[in-house]
Amino acid sequence: MRRKLVCGNWKMNGSLVSNAVLLAGIKAGLSQSSCDVAVCVPAVYLAQCQSALTGSGLSWGAQDVSAHASGAYTGEISVSMLQDFSCEYVILGHSERRAYHGESDALVALKMQRVIQSGLTPVVCVGESLAERESGQTEAVVSAQMDVLLAAIDAADLAKMVIAYEPVWAIGTGKTATPEMAQDVHAILRAKLGQKNGELAQAVRILYGGSMKPDNARELLAMPDIDGGLIGGAALNSADFLAIVHFA
Ligand code: 13P
Repeated sequence: MRRKLVCGNWKMNGSLVSNAVLLAGIKAGLSQSSCDVAVCVPAVYLAQCQSALTGSGLSWGAQDVSAHASGAYTGEISVSMLQDFSCEYVILGHSERRAYHGESDALVALKMQRVIQSGLTPVVCVGESLAERESGQTEAVVSAQMDVLLAAIDAADLAKMVIAYEPVWAIGTGKTATPEMAQDVHAILRAKLGQKNGELAQAVRILYGGSMKPDNARELLAMPDIDGGLIGGAALNSADFLAIVHFA
């Protein structure tokens, strides 16, 4: 049985003051959550998360990390720096990083290797654009993204990764994949994982991301291969985020 994970992706939002309110609200409502819950915040706020969330049962993490260990990479943040702040998760290969920062599948795979080696959990995003979906290429696109990732990971490490299926056309648009559409892609992703190791593929959590909200989370999270959510906009409001956690 896979334990569900609800992970907030705050993107480039927040301030010390608003974060304190949001984190306190989430913590207060979290009491008997039976699923894993995390927030991935702008790196400058990791220290705030560490001090606010230590011992709370809520995990935290980053939205990206460098593929390099250390050195002359101005502006980058290393895995060991994230470990200094007790991060548990790192989002990798979000479509916004792929689109606005030119991140390739190969770079995402390198980052994933480094994150897994360090003992943190990568939440690796895959997903198709609207044009790709409309031209019937969804399976080909996500399969190609998975092929690069799977070539970079030892079969024994498979269950150390979390995959997030984020159809690009559903991110921040209010359009959501129907539960059936999402389930179809999740099943394709799990079959890809199964080509690497059938047994461990059953243990990998595959999250759905793309306008998941309290009013659609229940149906999405009821699908057999949807193991949680990667939540953007709804993660910025504690009541909405907690409602999704509740359905998980
Ligand atoms: P929204 O929930 O705002 O659509 O964002 C999804 C997302 O990109 C999470 O990583």
